[in-house]
Amino acid sequence: MRRPLLDIEGLSARTADGQAVLLDVSLLMGPGEVHGLVGQSGAGKTSIAKAVLGILPRAITLNEGSIRFDGTELIGAPAATLDKLLGTDIALIPQDPMTALNPSRRIGAQLTDSLRLKAGLSKSAAMERARKLLEEVHLTDTRRILRAYPHELSGGMRQRVLIASAFALNPRLIIADEPTSALDVTVQKQILRLIRRLQREHETAVLFVTHDLGVVAQICDDVTVLFSGAVVEQTTVHHLFRHPRHVYTRALIASNPRYDQPGASLRPISDEVIADTLQSLDAKGAS
Ligand SMILES: Nc1ncnc2c1ncn2[C@@H]1O[C@H](COP(=O)(O)OP(=O)(O)OP(=O)(O)O)[C@@H](O)[C@H]1O
Ligand SMILES: [Mg+2]
Repeated sequence: MRRPLLDIEGLSARTADGQAVLLDVSLLMGPGEVHGLVGQSGAGKTSIAKAVLGILPRAITLNEGSIRFDGTELIGAPAATLDKLLGTDIALIPQDPMTALNPSRRIGAQLTDSLRLKAGLSKSAAMERARKLLEEVHLTDTRRILRAYPHELSGGMRQRVLIASAFALNPRLIIADEPTSALDVTVQKQILRLIRRLQREHETAVLFVTHDLGVVAQICDDVTVLFSGAVVEQTTVHHLFRHPRHVYTRALIASNPRYDQPGASLRPISDEVIADTLQSLDAKGAS
């Protein structure tokens, strides 16, 4: 790999009452790569995403490890360093397109904020750029959308607006935390294709958080499988589906019989597999 864009090494985190949230997590991403972070609820996916963005809740403390973005250490970095990176070099596509937008401000005002603040564009130049961004995410009638309030748009349209916003300043890394899970299956597929197309056009690296292996198969190059805060398998997507090594990965694949179809319903993973997985992590000294 060329110089890594994101280099997470030995990251461990706990809650205030001592419960492990992340256990020695390491992850490397090169420029322009799409890396899937997959695991069941509570595995620690969002915690990794939030650690990179420096927005972990107070209840979670990082104990060990480092997160380097293009060589710069983010843990403990001065606020000015993080401020400079976040929103420009590193952007977020959030999970819930309703709560991520301010309900009382027009789409145009929300889209132009960062263009004016961080790119220093004038009000009219920012509005014109915002209109072009909406075209890029295949929204039509862009002038009307810029004047609209979030509740006047459908869920899929709002998510397109947020994707436009994430790509607005041409970031090098986008963190997408389950960006399609609030959408119905057809819209989900369109949004995934859209993210993939923009990602390729802009050569943006994407850390893609999902619990859905179908999404991983469709969009990712590499994948990290998390279980209970620990990495159980890390490989290329091509390899993951052909030669899954860990019992938990095999169970995860078996739980979604149509992983070529994102959004298909999952079968539960058996207690036996869970027990075996915990045992294998114990053997690695992760407990
Ligand atoms: N604000 C919080 N306070 C205390 N514990 C938290 C908080 N947020 C998350 N946790 C704990 O951290 C662990 C990992 O949670 P995280 O949200 O990272 O999982 P996840 O893989 O994103 O799950 P999901 O698929 O449900 O989004 C869980 O055990 C959870 O209880
Ligand atoms: Mg989460």
